[in-house]
Amino acid sequence: MRVFTLLLSLVVGTAAQAAEPDFVSFVERGADGVAIVRVITEAKACPAIAIDGHEQPMTVRAPAGSEPLRPTASSPANSKPSVFPVTSCEATLPPNTQTASVAGRSLALPKPRTDRIVVIGDTGCRIKGKAVQPCNDVNKYPFAKIAALAAAWKPDLVVHVGDYQYRENACPESMPGCSESPWGYGWDTWNADFFAPAQPLLRAAPWVLVRGNHENCFRAGQGWMRFIDPNPWTPARDCNDPAHDITGDDSPVFAVPLGDGAQIVVMDLAFADEGKPLDPKDPLAAPIVAAYRRIDDLSRAASFTFLATHKPILGLSASEKGGQLHLRPGNATIQAVFGSLNPDLLPPKIDTLLAGHYHVWQQVDFSTPHPSQFIAGFSGTLEDTVPIPDTLPPGTTPAPGAQPDHFSSWIDGFGFMTLERRDAPHWDVKVWNLAGKVVNTCEIAGRHSKCAIARVH
Ligand SMILES: [Fe+2]
Repeated sequence: MRVFTLLLSLVVGTAAQAAEPDFVSFVERGADGVAIVRVITEAKACPAIAIDGHEQPMTVRAPAGSEPLRPTASSPANSKPSVFPVTSCEATLPPNTQTASVAGRSLALPKPRTDRIVVIGDTGCRIKGKAVQPCNDVNKYPFAKIAALAAAWKPDLVVHVGDYQYRENACPESMPGCSESPWGYGWDTWNADFFAPAQPLLRAAPWVLVRGNHENCFRAGQGWMRFIDPNPWTPARDCNDPAHDITGDDSPVFAVPLGDGAQIVVMDLAFADEGKPLDPKDPLAAPIVAAYRRIDDLSRAASFTFLATHKPILGLSASEKGGQLHLRPGNATIQAVFGSLNPDLLPPKIDTLLAGHYHVWQQVDFSTPHPSQFIAGFSGTLEDTVPIPDTLPPGTTPAPGAQPDHFSSWIDGFGFMTLERRDAPHWDVKVWNLAGKVVNTCEIAGRHSKCAIARVH
């Protein structure tokens, strides 16, 4: 775990922390908000966990192992077997646990009421084909900085909206900015791209971890299942055998209570193709129909619901070709299937959508009965740079039948977003840059939201 120690001292700058036992620990919240402790260690056996002063063993979730080469998003020449020389351990904390620690390291536990939430997304360092980011420069790949700043804000909860692992191919020799970077989908890459830079934030609060398309089975799914997925690690969902990818790419929807009637519902659907509408009768639509029904049911049980899903359903992305701006709507597959169940696309009790995937920060509010969309895919990965005008061109909409009312964006700026509860349907949003300064503020009131600045420059 050398990378972990090196990066931690770089960001935090203390020898004392570097001397701590060398393992990764974090707490994530799963179905019904249950607190799941995960430890990743080079030891073969799992350490004990002390829960309210009583020591008990942790369970091995996934032993160390090497997985044979499988088809991936890259050509066979640019792929390799995934090696995991670490043990993944887990334990579930009983409700109302007051203290928990592993090898003397205290774990951050859920609070009865979650009022301060950090939202980050798209945090890995891009090395794929010609798209190469200088991973060794903390200003050009700033996830470690963002994790330290967000930890200093002292959140009650961290939400990662997906896409953790981007170092898919070897760093080209012509690019010294990423020299010696690990690559592929094994532990060394997971550590460099996520666990090492995320350390201060993993220690600061429990997490809700949303799966991105970079964690689909044919990319970094094997590590996602070993280390992060909140469900049991089973051969049917371990992403090792491509014959099981349809099962492995489908995750159950779950809800995490935030206290006082608010909740966050987590939906995977990272496999949903953006560009092509899917026939709702296609067998591939079945898990999307099931996800709609589940988010509808879960949202009816709360007075305020954030829906976190990696791919934006109601956001806009921009590209430029020959000097011409092209604005693309939200995910076509999810829109087609959800739209066949409800012309308003989302269940009526979903208030605010949280997503990543577009490497920008963005907010969209609607005059039609659609929830606000926030996008926070701006926390480390090489950014999208084509700006969207302050005033949307007439007729521009992220989805059929949705009429944007307020729109706000920040292009080509790295940072993180925070949500602070005022009361049940009201949340204050702040958008932070790498200098730890607030560059925009917004207010969420039920399904609506409004920001102070239309376009951050
Ligand atoms: Fe993505």
